[in-house]
Amino acid sequence: MLKRVEEELGSYPPLIFAEEARRLKENLAQVCKGDAFLLQGGDCAESFSAFNGDNIKSLFKVLMQMAVVMTFSGGKPVVKVGRIAGQFAKPRSSDFEKVNGQELPSYRGDIINDIAFEEIAREPNPKKLLKAYNQSAATLNLLRAFARGGMADLNKVHTWNQDFLKDHSLGQKYEDIATKIEEALRFMKSCGITADNTPAIAQTVLYTSHEALLLNYEEALTRRDSLTGEWYDCSAHMLWIGDRTRDLNEAHVEYFRGIKNPIGCKVGPSMEPDELLQLIDKLNPENEPGRLNLIVRMGADKVAEKFPPLLRKVKEAGKNVVWSCDPMHGNTIKTDTGYKTREFENILSEVKQFFQIHKAEGTVAGGIHLEMTGQNVTECTGSQSSQITADGLSDRYHTQCDPRLNADQALELSFMIAETFKEA
Ligand code: PEP
Ligand code: CO
Repeated sequence: MLKRVEEELGSYPPLIFAEEARRLKENLAQVCKGDAFLLQGGDCAESFSAFNGDNIKSLFKVLMQMAVVMTFSGGKPVVKVGRIAGQFAKPRSSDFEKVNGQELPSYRGDIINDIAFEEIAREPNPKKLLKAYNQSAATLNLLRAFARGGMADLNKVHTWNQDFLKDHSLGQKYEDIATKIEEALRFMKSCGITADNTPAIAQTVLYTSHEALLLNYEEALTRRDSLTGEWYDCSAHMLWIGDRTRDLNEAHVEYFRGIKNPIGCKVGPSMEPDELLQLIDKLNPENEPGRLNLIVRMGADKVAEKFPPLLRKVKEAGKNVVWSCDPMHGNTIKTDTGYKTREFENILSEVKQFFQIHKAEGTVAGGIHLEMTGQNVTECTGSQSSQITADGLSDRYHTQCDPRLNADQALELSFMIAETFKEA
C-alpha cells in the first residue's frame, strides 16, 4: 500500500517550481548579509480537521501585519515564509503515550496517524500522504491568490487588522503605522508611483516550508529541474531538519545533501561546535549564502551559555549561514493541569538574548521562526495583549501539537522586534 501511494504521489504535479526556490535562496542570501529579515511562522502541526479558508486567511493576514511592522521600523525587506502547506509530520520525544494506565503509539501528525486516543486511530495509514498532498495544494493555491490577487495590497493595510485586535492598544499601535503607510502611498501616488506601474505595492510573495521529516513523502515529490538538471524537493520552497533527526550519518542529512532548495536545520542545546561545523560542511559544501538557515532553539535559560560558542566557531570558520531564532521549542513546559504551554516572557527573553548575542559578536541576527496562528487561541500564557493565565488555557486550546502564539501575541512580538531594530 505505501509503495503504491508513493508511486501515485510521484506521478502528481510538483507543488512548487524550482525557480521559486532559487528566488527564495537569493532572498535568504540578502538576509545572510543583513540586508533583509526572515519571518517564518505557522502551525506546529497542520491538521485535516482545522483545514478551512478562514484559518489560512487569518494566518496570511497576521504574517502581513508583522511584516509591515518590522519593515516599517527596520527599513529592510521582510522575507515571509509560512510553516504551512505541508507541515504535517511530527517527531515525538516518546514512541508511546500513556493515559489512565492505557498505553498507545504516539500521534505523529495527520500525515501518519490520527490524534484520537484509540488503538485504531494510532495505526499509520499511507493514504494520509495523498490527503496531505491535496490539502497542501489547495492551501498553496489560496496563498498564491492572496499574495497576487490584492490581499497583500499596501493600500489595504488597514483591512489586515484582525477584528479582535482593533479595539486593543496593540491594534491601535498597528493602525498608527497603517495610517503612516497610507500617507506615504498618497504622496507616492502624487509623484506617479502606483500599484499599476510598481506591482510591489500591491503584491507579495509568501513562501512555504515544513520539516521534511517523512522522507517517503519528500522523496516522492523530489523532481529534477528541467532548466538546470538539479534535484529539488518540490513539496515546499524551503525544508528543514528537526533537532531530533540532524545526526550527521542519518537519512535526513543524506537526503538534504542531494536537494538544491534553501534548507534549514534546527540547532538545540545538545549541539557541539565541531559537530555543527561538520554539519555545515555536509549541508552547504560550497558555502553558498542563502542555502543554509540555522534555526537556534535553546530555551531562554540556555541560550546565553550555549549559543555564543557555536556562533564564534561558525564566524571564525567564515561560513555563510542565516541565523534565525526559534524561541518556541526550548521553552515548552507542562502545567499542573496537564497543558503544554509556553510563557510569553520566556519567548521574548530568548529573542532578546539572541539579538544581544549577535550584537556583541558583530554578526547578523537574520530572522525569527515561530509557532503561531491567526486565530484567537489560548495556548501560550502571558503577554501584555492577551494576559492568558494558566487557568485560562482551557478556553480555546486548539493546537494539534505544540502551543502557538495567537495573533495578538505574534503581533506584540513583532513590535518588540521592531524596537530592537530601532535600537540597532
Ligand atoms: C518543530 O519545529 O515543530 C520541531 C519539532 O522543532 P525541533 O525539531 O526544534 O524540536
Ligand atoms: Co512544535
